[in-house]
Amino acid sequence: MAIRLGDTAPDFTAETSEGPISFHDWLGDSWGILFSHPKDFTPVCTTELGAFSARKGDFDKRNTKLIGLSVDSLASHEGWAGDIKETQGTALAFPLIADEDRKVADLYDMIHPNELETLTVRSVFIISPDKKVKLTLTYPASTGRNIDEILRVLDSLQLTAGYSVSTPANWNDGDDVIIAPAINDEDAKVKFPKGFTTLKPYLRMTPQPNK
Ligand code: BEZ
Repeated sequence: MAIRLGDTAPDFTAETSEGPISFHDWLGDSWGILFSHPKDFTPVCTTELGAFSARKGDFDKRNTKLIGLSVDSLASHEGWAGDIKETQGTALAFPLIADEDRKVADLYDMIHPNELETLTVRSVFIISPDKKVKLTLTYPASTGRNIDEILRVLDSLQLTAGYSVSTPANWNDGDDVIIAPAINDEDAKVKFPKGFTTLKPYLRMTPQPNK
């Protein structure tokens, strides 16, 4: 069944390139990003794993663990990790699930047979520390993911989890944000001491409160 925002992220046990894990225990109190790759030794996936690995420090700063998935064996992952290091200039920096029996892929509805018959598409799940699914993205095999965009939505999710705000189109960390319509002006003055600009009664902008 498809996974929807707000659902509890399904728990599972799996073999990974860093040993066996129990997903929820492995996540602990961190945020998590689970993302799938169609297959080992494929070109776009190789660049994505290099790109995620190169930015691991940016995810660490955000208390966020990365975990990839591909429906090939551990031995295959091991060989592929060598290619990633050789061609992308960075070693694989996080666990890669060996989902040979497609158990996790099925649990997370990562196989879209009309796109790829038996392989996973490029799914992304961002999971909050309470194990709720906060964001899902689905890309086709032909399009590699953008790490800056994933960091951008992570920043928005972490900000809006702590403050009564939402982030506008094309927002980036540090830009002004929108005060939630449920907060009246009187309460907004207290909650947002840097002040706010009322463009419309439902559209009030304030400097990012955690900066
Ligand atoms: C790739 O990563 O380049 C890829 C994976 C599966 C099908 C096609 C391309």
